[in-house]
Amino acid sequence: SPAGRCGGLEVHAQINTSTKLFSASPVGFSAPPNSLVSFFDASLPGTLPVLNKQCVEAAVKTGLALHCSINTKSFFDRNTTFIKNRYACSFQAGYQITQQRRPIAVDGMLTYSLLRGKKWNQVMRKCVHIKQIQLEQDSGKSLHDDVQSQTLIDLNRAGVGLMELVMEPDMCCGEEAAAAVRELQLILQALGTCQGNMSEGQLRVDANVSVHRPGEPLGVRTEVKNINSIRYLAKAIDFEIQRQIDVLQRGGTVFNETRAYDSKSGETIPMRDKEGLQDYRFMPEPNLPPLVVYVDEASLPAGIDASQAVLVEKIKEALPELPSLKRDRLVQTYGILPEHSYTLVNEDGLVEFFEAVLKATTKEPRKVIGWVTNELLGHLKQQDLSVSQSLVSPSALAELLELQEMGHISSSAAKQVFQEMTRSSGKTALHIIQEQDLGLVSDSDQLHNICQRVVDSHPNEVHAIRSGNKKVLNKLMGLVQKETKGRADPVLVRTILQEKTL
Ligand SMILES: *[C@@H]1O[C@H](CO)[C@@H](O)[C@H](O)[C@H]1NC(C)=O
Ligand SMILES: *[C@@H]1O[C@H](CO)[C@@H](O)[C@H](O)[C@H]1NC(C)=O
Ligand SMILES: *[C@@H]1O[C@H](CO)[C@@H](O)[C@H](O)[C@H]1NC(C)=O
Ligand SMILES: *[C@@H]1O[C@H](CO)[C@@H](O)[C@H](O)[C@H]1NC(C)=O
Repeated sequence: SPAGRCGGLEVHAQINTSTKLFSASPVGFSAPPNSLVSFFDASLPGTLPVLNKQCVEAAVKTGLALHCSINTKSFFDRNTTFIKNRYACSFQAGYQITQQRRPIAVDGMLTYSLLRGKKWNQVMRKCVHIKQIQLEQDSGKSLHDDVQSQTLIDLNRAGVGLMELVMEPDMCCGEEAAAAVRELQLILQALGTCQGNMSEGQLRVDANVSVHRPGEPLGVRTEVKNINSIRYLAKAIDFEIQRQIDVLQRGGTVFNETRAYDSKSGETIPMRDKEGLQDYRFMPEPNLPPLVVYVDEASLPAGIDASQAVLVEKIKEALPELPSLKRDRLVQTYGILPEHSYTLVNEDGLVEFFEAVLKATTKEPRKVIGWVTNELLGHLKQQDLSVSQSLVSPSALAELLELQEMGHISSSAAKQVFQEMTRSSGKTALHIIQEQDLGLVSDSDQLHNICQRVVDSHPNEVHAIRSGNKKVLNKLMGLVQKETKGRADPVLVRTILQEKTL
């Protein structure tokens, strides 16, 4: 039977700059639809596009972070494909300026990880090759209105600088593609080159999907366009893999077509346009000279001011800490496990939360991490909340952990208190402990009585312990905790039970 295989991805990342790729028009600018033509600088007779240096720097920075070779000379081209369909109107000039012949960065590598294993505790490293990164203009967004059967154009994005990142078909399923794009998003955000908010369309993904039988070449691919969430990306690819397998198993044909993901039905559907049939037409952009960047100041030709030039080595020296290094640093600094540092970095705001808890407690980082990645995150995921929406603040969690660390409550009672804190915002741990009488029972007489009852009613277990099976003691300890609702002082209980089972 055919094996699933996701093909390459193309990611369009909106560059985080205040002005557009070829003009000083501000990004986020909106205009009435009928005035659109005049805003497209390149389409006005006598005006020439002027390249935004910030966009070039962003592309070089991104290329370096993804281990690409930077082309010191690259070219701009006109893509006139769009003229032929409904989306033509989203490029006011009738063409898009892009980099087809020689893009600014090529031949890179994105390393990402996945959590695998029964307990999601194996960090598995994977790589995807980056074929190229090209600079290009964003189009206006066309919003199709089905009711009135008309196309509306949102111009805010038109002409904004994009980096198109082309990834080679190294991924085999939705989960891998999603993990790769999440890592890319984290890298872009660390670099500051793209804000990466997918719901605002700052990061959009197209995916080629094809399937094949083991040992046979890949079948015809379909291209799923404009996926704007990482969760949907995984779902769209997996749906499409399964759909193609089903078609082939029924003896049908997979068509070379463009599809869209419908998040409501969870399905991919063919796009109404004949976009899948478009033949791309490119020509060199006549109004733009080659894009030249320099290795360093020493390589600048006479007469070119260093402040006007883009210097690759200078950008390389200023690269910030990237997510993979940050994960390594967290492991080293706090002695936590790699899977924990993976989760910390991948959840927005979780590192900051963790470090804020650490500042306010004497509990060791290795003991705090489980509370953050299991209790806190588990609760947030269940409620579909982000870290910033957590009802439990870092200082409130720290207070709870401190009470446990000082021996005021047992760890199981601490978990009960935490659950209560997630339900009743504002109540402190101490308040809940008093209100629900969850404090540690360390009254020796009371514990002696409970232990005696447990020992008397479990002669088989006591016999096993006496014949050398010391592990059975844990079972008796569990029974004592059950009687005290997890509140008994575990150290005391162990001592008492050991005496009674000698
Ligand atoms: C999908 O493959 C086609 C060639 O068959 C290519 O033109 C296109 O750029 C690819 N798209 C993605 C998302 O990789
Ligand atoms: C966007 O760019 C601005 C200015 O360079 C920078 O201060 C900001 O941190 C960037 N934002 C993101 C989310 O990368
Ligand atoms: C992304 O954009 C959406 C829609 O504007 C907004 O609700 C959300 O808060 C943004 N997310 C982040 C992390 O800024
Ligand atoms: C599918 O169509 C694209 C153009 O849209 C073309 O580049 C590609 O070669 C075609 N692939 C197959 C397998 O027919």
